[in-house]
Amino acid sequence: MAASSPIRPVRKAVFPVAGLGTRFLPASKSVPKEMLTVVDMPVIQYAVSEAKEAGIEHFVFVTGRNKAVIEDHFDIQPELRDTLAARNKQDMLDVLDRYQPEAGTTSFTRQQAPKGLGHAVWCARDIVGDEPFALLLPDMVMQAPKGCLSTMMDVYNKTGGNIIAVQECDPEEVSSYGIVAKGADVEGGFEITDMVEKPKKEDAPSNLYINGRYILQPDIFRLLENQETGAGGEIQITDAMLRLAGEQPFFGTVFEGNTFDCGSKEGFIAANVSFALERDDTGPIIREMLKNLL
Ligand code: UTP
Repeated sequence: MAASSPIRPVRKAVFPVAGLGTRFLPASKSVPKEMLTVVDMPVIQYAVSEAKEAGIEHFVFVTGRNKAVIEDHFDIQPELRDTLAARNKQDMLDVLDRYQPEAGTTSFTRQQAPKGLGHAVWCARDIVGDEPFALLLPDMVMQAPKGCLSTMMDVYNKTGGNIIAVQECDPEEVSSYGIVAKGADVEGGFEITDMVEKPKKEDAPSNLYINGRYILQPDIFRLLENQETGAGGEIQITDAMLRLAGEQPFFGTVFEGNTFDCGSKEGFIAANVSFALERDDTGPIIREMLKNLL
């Protein structure tokens, strides 16, 4: 896509949820880690709500074996609704309605084996088709007044191309992340001139890490087609993005909010504490409880 091409709207979002979640064993043996709750919402719901806030119209889930409950979560449960209605629990019905996607706005496909994130994204190619799409890694739960994807959309609507959200990390921690190199500033962001997966501290081009939110052009599917494996013997999205960066512009936006890696125990616990503290219904009691515990 040339920079001068018309900017096509981003209508669809892909949520890869086919990973094994080994860091959450034994819980993740039968419960997908994406269904573990931060306060009272499953981890996956945070990413879906963020996408909805950003104007996404269609939600594409790449699931795997033992993940059927994710599909159930986004469906209507008539028996539950009938029981709540019979008991006059309108407030609870309102909660269900608030998170209910409209009929026909979700799609589910299966990654038949967990061959890596790049492979999971490639599995969504027919559903996404030939249009730009958002990619949200649901493990990364964001907390901010304005969602990360909404901020990225603001930049995308001016620049087009591909957008990656980044955040600053402690320079000592760069070797745990995908790191980008920062080029010239553009409105609301900057040009990305390089991406390095888990660099050594001395080789890192910055301390800006890729935080799990992307807007990508559909050409990425062509680059994932060859199923080439990278680090860890997995098909990596970063490898395909690097190749796409040879053909198309990539821009970075710095997300200023909190990001919790709910794929790790410590991130998951921190998310629970932080969201519980922020909420009116749980904040005061949790604050008191934490004081007593400490
Ligand atoms: P992770 O790197 O956290 O891997 O995946 P994982 O397998 O889920 O978890 P651990 O490391 O074993 O604990 C990042 C995101 O990519 C998805 C995961 O579901 C998660 O949302 N993913 C990863 C897939 O959908 N398919 C894959 O083959 C790998």
